[in-house]
Amino acid sequence: MRLDKFLSETGTASRTESKKAARAGGITVNGITVKDPSQHIDPEKDAVVYMGTPVLYQKFIYLMLNKPDGVLSATEDGEGQTVLDLVPEKYRKMGLFPCGRLDKNTLGLLILTNNGPLAHKLLSPKCHVEKTYRFECERPLTDADCDLLCRGVDIGEKSSTQPAKLNLFSDRSGEITVTEGKFHQIKRMFQAVCNKITYLERVKFADIPLDTTLKRGEWRELTDAEREQIENK
Ligand code: URA
Repeated sequence: MRLDKFLSETGTASRTESKKAARAGGITVNGITVKDPSQHIDPEKDAVVYMGTPVLYQKFIYLMLNKPDGVLSATEDGEGQTVLDLVPEKYRKMGLFPCGRLDKNTLGLLILTNNGPLAHKLLSPKCHVEKTYRFECERPLTDADCDLLCRGVDIGEKSSTQPAKLNLFSDRSGEITVTEGKFHQIKRMFQAVCNKITYLERVKFADIPLDTTLKRGEWRELTDAEREQIENK
């Protein structure tokens, strides 16, 4: 495996960071400084040290799930079904957890992973990861409502919501893209303009669109390209 791929898969550094660190002499393999991060290593045998810290090899797994209605985005629940119940046991044993939460009645794209540092980074407000939701709402949206939703609304937090993008299909449906992930964020944004969400489905996360060939409740591993996309966010 390439050294830079290894560092990105272990959540240590992005390809760009690896390149910089290698140039600065900050990466060793078996005690030897490596200047070229495209060099191949054996992750099971070679001892890699990144900026003075040994890098432990752990294979990270990423699944894309099309979350159905009525399932909880949690790892355990005493009573209801969780998203973890929808994937084979072999993955559960690898310590997968949902990267962010969708409400019980929200459908669509959920990434499951065991890469804690990356999930933390993707969910951090500083990372500004885009999430796109298809919605339907109870009342027609006026131009003023759309303007407010896009500019930022008061949902009872310290500050207004960050700017959002809106693409209307009709005056009661469309897609909204936000960069935050506050609790019930979209539902609260619509409440703030005296409306109510009646349908919510996440169709994109971090530039990865929901694979529409997946039926509700189905999952697949991320492709190499998708994996690279989120690991290099
Ligand atoms: N916003 C919501 O209100 N609910 C979700 O599940 C996701 C975003």
